[in-house]
Amino acid sequence: MRINIAIDGPSAAGKSTIAKRLAKKYNYIHLDTGAMYRCIALACKMADVAWKDEEEVKKLLPQSKISFDALGNVYLNGENVTRRIREKDMSMGASDVSTLLSVREDLVARQKDFAKNKGIIMDGRDIGTVVLKDAEIKIFLTASPASRAMRRYKENMEKGIPCDFDALVKDIEERDYQDTHREHSPLTQAEDAVLVDTSEMSIEEVVDTISNIIETKFPEGVSEND
Ligand code: DC
Repeated sequence: MRINIAIDGPSAAGKSTIAKRLAKKYNYIHLDTGAMYRCIALACKMADVAWKDEEEVKKLLPQSKISFDALGNVYLNGENVTRRIREKDMSMGASDVSTLLSVREDLVARQKDFAKNKGIIMDGRDIGTVVLKDAEIKIFLTASPASRAMRRYKENMEKGIPCDFDALVKDIEERDYQDTHREHSPLTQAEDAVLVDTSEMSIEEVVDTISNIIETKFPEGVSEND
């Protein structure tokens, strides 16, 4: 039986990394919904529209076509924006546009449509609470701000991107605050989600923990199409 899996949690908790691994393991499709908010932030930047100017941002939505390929690349109106949307300005931009109700309604509708045939692992902030309320498995992935910042720091160092650890902690705390305090669909753990704190865990341990949760609930397996 194929199911849908929702993974929510704060920034840099490892949601996308874990979702990608699980998608590979179960032969599922991964949808990184944060990338969609990042694309809208980029569309605003390209059109010189302020991220919180709802009237103007709203006009950009119908003309912002977001697509993905099997390699995990992200396209905005056909242009490969995979790297651009990961740059620092896009993180806060995405957090800003995600506070707007019209943006959320538009992207949530696209995400629901994506998941209608099951076999999807979606990660974000409101997947278990809004987008896939009926997902068969819901995980709330978290870690302390310091350990999330340390992971980002190491990632940046490996890629040769200079960064400051304290600035990363501050950036994470700022985004956590905005994402958990916004008016529309703030980040919260769904009542039926399982909390996984990854502060002291390796990627493999997190994948194993979630696989156990899935396989305990669905001992018959989740990879078959019936
Ligand atoms: O997961 P991320 O860091 O790429 O997400 C970027 C921003 O988008 C994040 O700060 C909050 C917002 N977001 C959201 O509001 N709802 C989602 N489902 C995914 C992301």
